[in-house]
Amino acid sequence: MDRRLPRRKILKAAAAAIAGVSLAPRPGRAAPARGERIEAQIARMTPAEKAGQLSCFSDQIRPTGIAFNPDLPVGGAAEQLERIRRGEIGMLFNGVGVAGARMAQKAAVEGSRLGIPLVFAGDIIHGLRTIFPLPVAEACAFDPDLAERTARAAAEEATALGLHWTFAPMVDVARDQRWGRVAEGSGEDVHLGSRLAAARVRGFQGADLRDPTSLAACAKHFAGYGAVSGGMEYNFTEISPGTLREVHLPPFEAGIEAGVATIMSAFNDVEGVPASGNAWLMTRLLRGDWRFEGLVVGDYAADENLVAHGFAADGRDAARKAFLAGMDMSMQSDLFNRWLPDLVEAGEVPMAQLDEAVRRVLGLKEALGLFDDPYRSLDAAAERLRVSTPAHLALAREAGTRSIVLLKNEDDLLPLAENPGRLALIGPFANDRDNVVGTWAFMADPELNVSIAEGLAARGVGFDVARGCGIEAALDGGIEEAVALARRSDVVLLALGEAQDMSGEAQARTEITLPQPQLDLARAVLAAHPRTVVLLRHGRALALGSGVREAPAILATWFLGSQSGHAIADILFGAVNPSARLSVSFPEASGQQPFFYDRKATGRPAPEVGAQEYTARYRETRNEALFPFGHGLGYTRFALTDIRVPARMGERMEVSAVLTNTGPRDGAEVVQLYVHDRVASRTRPMRQLKGFRRVELAPEESVTVRFTLTRDDLRFWGEDGWTVEPGTIDVWLATSSRTGERRSFELD
Ligand code: NOJ
Repeated sequence: MDRRLPRRKILKAAAAAIAGVSLAPRPGRAAPARGERIEAQIARMTPAEKAGQLSCFSDQIRPTGIAFNPDLPVGGAAEQLERIRRGEIGMLFNGVGVAGARMAQKAAVEGSRLGIPLVFAGDIIHGLRTIFPLPVAEACAFDPDLAERTARAAAEEATALGLHWTFAPMVDVARDQRWGRVAEGSGEDVHLGSRLAAARVRGFQGADLRDPTSLAACAKHFAGYGAVSGGMEYNFTEISPGTLREVHLPPFEAGIEAGVATIMSAFNDVEGVPASGNAWLMTRLLRGDWRFEGLVVGDYAADENLVAHGFAADGRDAARKAFLAGMDMSMQSDLFNRWLPDLVEAGEVPMAQLDEAVRRVLGLKEALGLFDDPYRSLDAAAERLRVSTPAHLALAREAGTRSIVLLKNEDDLLPLAENPGRLALIGPFANDRDNVVGTWAFMADPELNVSIAEGLAARGVGFDVARGCGIEAALDGGIEEAVALARRSDVVLLALGEAQDMSGEAQARTEITLPQPQLDLARAVLAAHPRTVVLLRHGRALALGSGVREAPAILATWFLGSQSGHAIADILFGAVNPSARLSVSFPEASGQQPFFYDRKATGRPAPEVGAQEYTARYRETRNEALFPFGHGLGYTRFALTDIRVPARMGERMEVSAVLTNTGPRDGAEVVQLYVHDRVASRTRPMRQLKGFRRVELAPEESVTVRFTLTRDDLRFWGEDGWTVEPGTIDVWLATSSRTGERRSFELD
């Protein structure tokens, strides 16, 4: 079945509005009027003014003071205001605050010849002042509704602080944990990533982009950025056509189906053509096959990067290639301002294509209501009232607890009793408040950060603290002090992990392990006290070294955002029963990367038991995960029984199982549906997630969990494009990617 058909039926109001075609005209405002207003503007614009609308720069009028990327010359606030008045800027990004935004907007609306308002954008990836868990962490909740709620809250804050557009969600499927940007996405799985992409788009954009709390979303990075070779940031890719279609593109399609207003082109190449100069990707596929009508913004200087890629000779050539390939807006390089008028004049870029790109930028501004109210979302009262509200902080805490994965819990060491005896809190993150929110939180309010120590103290728990070591360096006498404290305690909490700047953009690692001083500390503490709970802090899946993996209880706590310490304490003491499941597999060793659960079958699979020589494995380890995708424990137990899988399937069928809470507490399980095509004309993944459902049950309560499987779920990219081949399909209803009883059915 072709996925495009149902999608076309979906009302894509946001993207259509950008194209100047309102699918749902408001009473009293005829649809063509908006389009006509845009056309009237275009008719008045010079080529230079058109190029100006297609150019955006980091905000120097209200700068955050953080440089993320090699800084290209942008000038200061005065120069930027002058350029706005000259009509050379269509959008500013990564500034914050209403007063500065109003000043910039005034310069555009009252000071420029055409009075076209600016649009303000920002990297609002997981919150603005209130920070929610990293997206890869929040993905562990397996709950699109939660992702939609945190995106909505982020939109409420961003629009209160003078922003209209976020460069999120990042929907790159990330299968190599060395890549630092794993942190920003939804992990290794296509189905989970697609569902969360759609949810976040809905959350950011709300029902109507004109609402002053709606934030235009941007699915990024188009496409294949998660496949950078060796996990190295900005590297080239080698992606087969099947993997591109089946793995890297679906989350973008899901975002488009959800009505995403914009898409950002990627830094990497795809089949030898840089994505930001790739006409097949940005035009044939996106505009032709997928009918995307929104705006494509290039990533930061991605047009200029075409020169270093060896794909363009110089800046002029780069501007021409990026623009003709389908990049509507150029970020930071200034190449469009510099060269598009000249290229049009020389007949190398058609004026009609320039107009089309301008139409999309003005269409976004129109869709956001900026032509009617250039000062929308620039309201000083909202700035005071709608930020870091108690509701947002409560949501950050809830989302934090829902993102913590209980990896291991021998002898039910957790939850801790309300009075657990003498408690030791050891490790470099014990009372750290600087590594709480994770990457892309440069506008966060640090006052909101809650350390683990503060979270415990807020529960009224007594404890002693020893740092033991720094994040990457040993401390003189640190281990001795920590061991002495462990020895005189009843339970040890050992807070280890990565600093927050070890993941995120440009933070690729060769080894995804804990720094050596922390491993030394862990070994010593564990030897001194067996009742040790490891609290991991990380922006990617880790390869846990010895001393850590042997701990009886391990919690993956990621970077949980502002309310981290409270969320961790809620889980430790059982106020919340952990229910998160891994969105990325924790491998045995770094050398297994890229590692993901839905890898293809090999011709020599390693047997479950017995001799492994001459099978697909490493000398040092089987190629399995220590903790696989979908894995996670809680403080109760669940049973999946009465699994029903029909013998045959035509177009669709229902599979079901009964889930029962057989343990002592209320809790939630995530039931996961996996399939495997036994014999096909292409090697197929050993398992692929096709559905999941998070279910909350009281002790002894049961529910029948049902999934509908369609032919579409079983398609793959074959010799002539999408295909579905009849034959035997294995299916699992399971609670991780490694468990569950295999059933099968015949696909007609
Ligand atoms: C580069 C990053 O790749 C992208 O994700 C981000 O949105 C832009 N910089 C703007 O900060």
